[in-house]
Amino acid sequence: MALILALESSCDDSAAALVSSDRQILAQAVVGQNEAHRPFGGVVPEIAARAHVEILPDLIRQVLHEAGVAIGEVDAIAATAGPGLIGGGMVGLLAGKGLALSAGKPLIAVNHLEGHALSPRLVDRSLDFPYLLLLASGGHCQLLEVRGVGDYRRLATTIDDAAGEAFDKAAKLLGLPYPGGPAIESLAAEGNAKAVPLPRPLVGSKEPHFSFAGLKGAVQRAVTSGEYGAADVAASFQQAVVDCFVDRTRRALTVSNAPSLVVAGGVAANCAVRSALQALAEQEGRRFSVPPAWLCTDNAAMIGWAGAERLAAGMIDGLDAPARARWPLDDSAEKVRGAGVKG
Ligand code: KG4
Ligand code: ZN
Repeated sequence: MALILALESSCDDSAAALVSSDRQILAQAVVGQNEAHRPFGGVVPEIAARAHVEILPDLIRQVLHEAGVAIGEVDAIAATAGPGLIGGGMVGLLAGKGLALSAGKPLIAVNHLEGHALSPRLVDRSLDFPYLLLLASGGHCQLLEVRGVGDYRRLATTIDDAAGEAFDKAAKLLGLPYPGGPAIESLAAEGNAKAVPLPRPLVGSKEPHFSFAGLKGAVQRAVTSGEYGAADVAASFQQAVVDCFVDRTRRALTVSNAPSLVVAGGVAANCAVRSALQALAEQEGRRFSVPPAWLCTDNAAMIGWAGAERLAAGMIDGLDAPARARWPLDDSAEKVRGAGVKG
């Protein structure tokens, strides 16, 4: 049994966790920075990096204390090294390197997307490779065949906005607070999903990808028209995203024989998304798995679990491992129009 101390700092959540290779979360803590970024309507990279510097040391002390574990008893340090905001990535990775060096422990530089991709296996011990993954977060929207640790084939990505980004932009248009996903989801519960006619970009298309920019434009027009209530716009928008997810994932299932369908990333915390993908898996005769909502949004437990999986596979990194703003899971995937910076 290996014990991993994990750090996460790739966006606006500072997090630390102690996770074991037998799927125990001994302690974990996440501190969001929503209040610091809210006045700006989105994440300000410099504010995020400085906040990680202030928050992470206390979180590390806290999880070690809570679990009653000394740093010397840890088997490896896992730290997110990207992709994401480079300042935050550097803060967390350097903290991880310092701990690894001073305690004489191996360092594992974790790809944040791999953290999301492997997160369901932390809680679902019978989820085996390969599985088809819909990874929907604030920075990404991809369909990946997860074949093993470090072995990914990207089947689709977004040609413009990420799904979470679309939720955040729609929320802003509706005057809802950041982050937009949870705010849209609760307002949508009071609205009619059929009230506002909104497009479903690329639905039915032969190409595999996602697109959400046109949906944002349509939400903007619906809001400025003054014809619709905010709850109806939220519900209709959420349904449009769900319809895009289901259509694009159904298409991917025609080219992937993976026995399981998995959805992960912050947008997978959304109940409408979870139940629609579960229904799709049932229709298509695939096993379905989705992590609990707290494990979908950014956290360090998933980084610790990815660290445990990598440690077991002998994948450790040198202290020269770089922080990376862009770090695709599938290096061989061709760049898609407009998606160059999304990885
Ligand atoms: O995975 P995550 O926490 O961070 C990134 O790696 O980006 O995802 C954050 C994104 C945000 O855009 C947020 O609005 C969205 O996930 N999100 C949701 C929900 N909770 C978070 N979107 C829809 N419904 C939710 N309940
Ligand atoms: Zn994330």
